[in-house]
Order: sequence, then C-alpha cells, then structure tokens
Amino acid sequence: MKTNFVLAFLMITGASSLPAQDNQIVLYPDSARHEISRHIYGHFSEHLGRCIYGGFWVGEDSEIPNTGRIRTDVVEALKEIAIPNLRWPGGCFADEYHWMDGIGPRDKRPTMINTHWGGVTEDNSFGTHEFLELCSLLDCEPVICGNMGSGTVREMSQWVEYLNSDNISPMTNLRRENGQEQAFGVKYWGVGNENWGCGGRMTAEYYANELRRYSVYCKNYGENKLYRVACGPYDENYHWTETLMKDAQTRNSFQGLSLHYYTVRGDWSSKGSATDFSEADWFTTMQKTLKMDEFIQKHSEIMDKYDPEKTKGLIVDEWGNWHDVEPGTNPGFLYQQNTLRDALVAAVNLNIFNNHCDRVKMANIAQTVNVLQSVILTEGEQIVRTPTYYVFKMYMVHHDATLVPYRISSEDYSVDDQSIPAIHVSCSKGEYGKMHLTMANLNPNIGTNMECIVEGMESIKVTSVEIITAGSMNAFNDFGKNEAVNIRSFDDVFVKENTLTINMPPRSIIQITMQ
Ligand code: AHR
Repeated sequence: MKTNFVLAFLMITGASSLPAQDNQIVLYPDSARHEISRHIYGHFSEHLGRCIYGGFWVGEDSEIPNTGRIRTDVVEALKEIAIPNLRWPGGCFADEYHWMDGIGPRDKRPTMINTHWGGVTEDNSFGTHEFLELCSLLDCEPVICGNMGSGTVREMSQWVEYLNSDNISPMTNLRRENGQEQAFGVKYWGVGNENWGCGGRMTAEYYANELRRYSVYCKNYGENKLYRVACGPYDENYHWTETLMKDAQTRNSFQGLSLHYYTVRGDWSSKGSATDFSEADWFTTMQKTLKMDEFIQKHSEIMDKYDPEKTKGLIVDEWGNWHDVEPGTNPGFLYQQNTLRDALVAAVNLNIFNNHCDRVKMANIAQTVNVLQSVILTEGEQIVRTPTYYVFKMYMVHHDATLVPYRISSEDYSVDDQSIPAIHVSCSKGEYGKMHLTMANLNPNIGTNMECIVEGMESIKVTSVEIITAGSMNAFNDFGKNEAVNIRSFDDVFVKENTLTINMPPRSIIQITMQ
C-alpha cells in the first residue's frame, strides 16, 4: 500500500488523519487555495515532420477545407478542447529559425534546410503572421521561442519590437507593410530552447550570462509585460536550475524557467513501438512517467530556496511519450500512433501538474498534430482525435479551477519485483463550488474499489461521471474506423452522505463532478 499526499497544502489544512484504509481518498475542499492555470493545458507545435505542414497548414490550392490555408477541421477540434496557448516554432528548430525569412510576400521568402528534422527544405510559407493568425483562430495565447543558439540579440530584440511596439520605427513600419497595423502584444517568449543541447551546447554558466544579455534587449512595450521563459533543465539536471536561480541578476532576467522531460520506455536508440507492446512495457512507461513528479518536486525545492514567494513559474514546455516512429515513416518526422497507454500517461502528467500548480504555471504537450504524443493525427483530408485528445477534453474542468488538497492511499500495481501506486488523482473546485475529481487506474488488469470521503461536507451529490477506457491496453483510434477510445458516461459510483464508492475498471481514467 502507498500513501501519497498533496503535501504543500496539508500545512494549510492542519488536517492530520491518514486515510484509514487501503484505496481511500480524503478530499479537503475547505483548504483549496491555489489556482490551476489553464496554461498547464498548453500545446507545442514545431516545424517538424507533418506538424505545421500538413497538420495545420495546407497547400495553396488544397481541397481540404481551410481558412487562409489553415485547416478548419484541426482548428475546430482544438477549439473543442479550448487550448489555452500554442508554443512555436520549436524546439530545436527555434534555434536555427530566422524570423525575417518568414515574413513578407510568400513567393519572395527564402528557403532553408531543416537540419534537425529530416533535412527537408523549409519554404518559410508559414511564418510569424501565419502563426498569429492560427492563434487568433484558436483563440489562444501565442508562445514564441526565440533563437539564441544561432541568432543574435538584435534579431530577437527586433522580433519583439516588430510584434509588440506601437511606435514609429523601421520594425513597426515593416509590420504595417506586411498588413498588421496594431501591435500583436505577444506576452510569452522563450529565450532559446534546450541550449544545453540542440540550442548551442552551452554550459549553465554561459547560458546564464547570455540570458541576462538577451533579456535586457527583449523589451516591454506599452502595457504588454513580457513573460520570458528561460531555457531550463532536462530531467534531473539540478545544476542548471541552481545556476539560473542562485544569482539575483540572472533570476531577474526571466519570469518562467522551462523543464523538459519525455517519457521514453526504452533507451533513446530503442524506445519501443507506440502500439505493439507488452504489459512489462506498459508498466515501465507508467513508472517512468511518474518520475515527472520527482523532477518537478526537486527542481521546485531549488526554486523555493531563492524564490520562496513562488514568483517564478516552472514551465514544463515539452513533455509526453516518445516512442519509435511508425514503421515506414521518415525517422526525422517523429510520427507515432497513440493508444490508451498514451491517454494514461497524459492523465498522470496532468494530475502531476495540477498537484504542483503553486509552481507549475504552464505546460505544453509535445506535439499538437502528427508529431510525438499528438492530440490529433491527419492523413490527407482525414483527421483522428487520439486517446490523448480525450484526456485533454475530460480535464478541461480543471482550467483555472482551484486545486483541492487530498490524501490518498492506493494499493500497488506490481510487475516482477517493481511496484507503483495503482491509482493517481487530482481534484479541483470550479464555478459554483462544483468539484472535479480525476482518477487514473494504472493497473491494466485489475479494477479497484476506491472510497472517497469529502471532509467538511455532510452530503454530496454526484452530477456526472465520465470514463476513458478500452478493451485492450493498446487500443487506438485509426483513420476511417469508429473510435476505439473516447469519453463515455459511467455509473458504477455510489454515494452515501459524504462518501463515494467508485468501482474503477482496470486501465481507466474517470472524471467525477460533484457538489
Ligand atoms: O519535440 C521534439 C524535440 O525534443 C524538440 O525539438 C526538442 O526541444 C526536444 O529535444
């Protein structure tokens, strides 16, 4: 049996009693304090494979329904899950992207080679204005990642000025010539990406200096105050976090610190198939994805030392499952299918981000369409909503809601001599006091009878219960077929006074709305 806590908040509640039995959750709605930013439900789209080209952007005379070459079906699907932000143009691509190549008349834009991703020719037809048009159609915040690796301070500074200034200047005049009178007012800026790796192989100390310099020249214009996201660590690279946090000048150069952690079932040379896997593979995937909690906790502890008021956000701007590419597809395009296993991974990570919402202010799944753990896959004019898509849909209830602290004791899910807790949860309180409990059963074989007690309430009323599950661990949604994985209603939940009993099927995700 494992007992877990949403620790930080127990200090506030002063609540001391542990759950009395196995498989029990105790919720403390009266102690809810911290907002779960909707930006935790953000997305990431890079010039990589068929994410931008084919995923969002279609050919000039395409028969696929579009608005100014942006796919209508993809926009509609993403609007249904209210994506709050979109990070662009990379990833590794960001540090070789020169934004001025992607503005002005399209037939005059230079081409380049996308050296990171398949060595394909990038024609720059999708550039800054096209990206901002996409964000406006999606009604979401743009998150632009600037080029520190191979760019210049001047280039990044001019990009900010071009987009955000309303003064008269060569940059703002250029923007007006390109059809945009008003400043766009882009708030979120990444100052480089993975600069310890594909973004320039810098040391933490060297990057910290560069960050200070870049940040001085990426200015605030008018009312728009930039939210600068510094390149942060990967996995357990705690030295990077310490270096960026310990010095006040460096710390004052950013508002958010990024963290990248991908769930890789095997090693980088053999990650394993997205659809063809064993129970041992499923278990390892879950075990590795749970490491996200440890990484966030330990990076947060370092941040807490220097920023106890939590003014800096931890921005998990790349996360998700990274499998081997689908057989027969370009290895540089990172195209992978998406199964119920991916849905469970999404549920666990989103629960983790919710539970750390006092520090985690934004997260971006990699990547929105046709790359890595996508919410959407396309093939020509066809579109598929993946199991991961349905988790984002189910978890919309947590957008900007208030985290409800809890204690949980869960039985273990064990394979060979390894064990993890079978049940993983988060809970929030939204409008009109409605509470939303999201639970994932990581055990693919055994259902669990969970008891949930709501402290401080004499009785509760359950108004809806939804479930995501399927007949097999590797069920997926495929082109031209009925969906194997989506959201259904569920009724195996019983209420008595302030206590729920939930019969959670194996390999399932459940959302309970109650008040
Ligand atoms: O998402 C794919 C790549 O993974 C990104 O370009 C890079 O930042 C990370 O290594």
